[in-house]
Amino acid sequence: MKIAITGKGGVGKTTLTSLLAYHYAGRGRSVLAIDADPSPCLGAALGFPADKMLELTPIAEMRDLIAERTGSSLGEVAGNFFKLNPRVSDLPDRFSEEHNGIRLLLLGAVQQGGAGCICPASALLKQLVQHVVLQCDEVVLLDLYAGVEHLGRGTAEAVDVMLAVAEPTHRSMRTVEQIRVLAADIGIENLLLVGNKVGSEADRRFFAENAPGIPLIGCLDASPEAIAADRSGQVLYALDRQLAMDVAAIADSIESALAGTGQAEERRYDHV
Ligand SMILES: Nc1ncnc2c1ncn2[C@@H]1O[C@H](COP(=O)(O)OP(=O)(O)O)[C@@H](O)[C@H]1O
Ligand SMILES: [Mg+2]
Repeated sequence: MKIAITGKGGVGKTTLTSLLAYHYAGRGRSVLAIDADPSPCLGAALGFPADKMLELTPIAEMRDLIAERTGSSLGEVAGNFFKLNPRVSDLPDRFSEEHNGIRLLLLGAVQQGGAGCICPASALLKQLVQHVVLQCDEVVLLDLYAGVEHLGRGTAEAVDVMLAVAEPTHRSMRTVEQIRVLAADIGIENLLLVGNKVGSEADRRFFAENAPGIPLIGCLDASPEAIAADRSGQVLYALDRQLAMDVAAIADSIESALAGTGQAEERRYDHV
């Protein structure tokens, strides 16, 4: 199962990714969580201890690795040749850390030369994302920061679902609308909306009424424990039973959404 999570900054992508990670890990699935945020926070949301976080270096910052695998270096600019399909299959095992049955990999930020620019670092990241989406047989959760930049066409087509997260605000819905266009461009078949920070029935209705042609598959309540979890370094999933139930319902809805598509066959063996 491959799930990409996207949406406007601050809406709760990382929170939802962490809840899904604990949900699937709690059901005996191996989970690979990928943080594509240039300032990564997924490790903290997953409750990774400081010593394990110190072991994690974002792949985009591994200059020697990028140079070795692509046959180029970060300093080189377009016009120089480098491999667009570097070897990456060993990277998830080598550079991830595990905590509570969840493996975490940090992608980091690529210094882009311009829109659509492909440099050695971005070639390596794209290849890596493609590898985990196409080849890994675990639950892969991609916390995609604010866009879909790591997903090329072939990769996006292999993502089972993309979840667009929103708050009950028009601004976050406008971002969802932009995501809808981008997702269609790159061939995402199942784009589903998750409403977050629901504090009232009016909030819940807001999502149903403003979803821009995207199925609303569930909501997460506004959690009084979110700040406490952040401050104490505890895992929100363990602190808030309501959120744990909300995310279980969302996982079931994903299942149902996929059951109506060609992916149903493969998923019968998933035992989620
Ligand atoms: N359901 C929720 N209830 C209360 N606070 C939330 C909820 N989801 C996220 N938050 C808070 O909102 C802020 C942004 O969440 P985060 O998951 O980091 O967003 P993103 O990854 O989209 O930038 C964090 O402080 C987080 O604790
Ligand atoms: Mg985030």
